[in-house]
Amino acid sequence: MKLYRFEHGPIQILAVPVLNDNFDYLICRAGKALLVDASEAAPVRRALEENGLELEQILLTHEHYDHIGGLSELALLCSGGATGVVGQVREIPTPGHTIDDTAYYFPEAAAVFTGDCLINGACGRLLGGTAEELYDSLQRIKVLPDETRVFGGHDYLEDNLRFGLSVEPDNAQIKARLELYRTDPAAAIFSTLGEEKQSNVFLRAKTAGEFAALRSAKDRF
Ligand SMILES: [Fe+2]
Repeated sequence: MKLYRFEHGPIQILAVPVLNDNFDYLICRAGKALLVDASEAAPVRRALEENGLELEQILLTHEHYDHIGGLSELALLCSGGATGVVGQVREIPTPGHTIDDTAYYFPEAAAVFTGDCLINGACGRLLGGTAEELYDSLQRIKVLPDETRVFGGHDYLEDNLRFGLSVEPDNAQIKARLELYRTDPAAAIFSTLGEEKQSNVFLRAKTAGEFAALRSAKDRF
């Protein structure tokens, strides 16, 4: 997939495809950029150069290698500036995938970066935290405004939606999103929270127990 650009007023978000199916994100305004996750240096460096961007800061969602493998190289490019060009950043603790995940919400950009907590169309595996923790973390994301665009750590959308359809075979929103993925993958992946609530079965679980059952079913899917 090519680099995907999302505009929100003066703020631009670049989704940089890295490794096999990860995304790193550049949130930019007026030539300055903040990076969320540092999976692989070369594609991020290229995106910075091609767009004439100065990297100011790096935020990490969690410590798995496929999200930090490019950190030492990319940190050298960092000016360390903290001018707040992308406005206020709200850190949301989202344990569950690991014991120490963080999501980043940028109200001015109407965007949330969820790493492997909310992976578009589903959620991450339990690799350190508990189902209850991950369920609670998703509830903290769910309360953000519906128009918030969700940027997760991977493109697993097709597999995630196929699982969703196995749970809710008549869900028209899941079917439509799967169709859209074939013609415009970026539009299907980077949905709004309102859309996620309709087509992501993990966000539709009403209790931690229901969520835990879904999570273990997905592990075997
Ligand atoms: Fe991870």
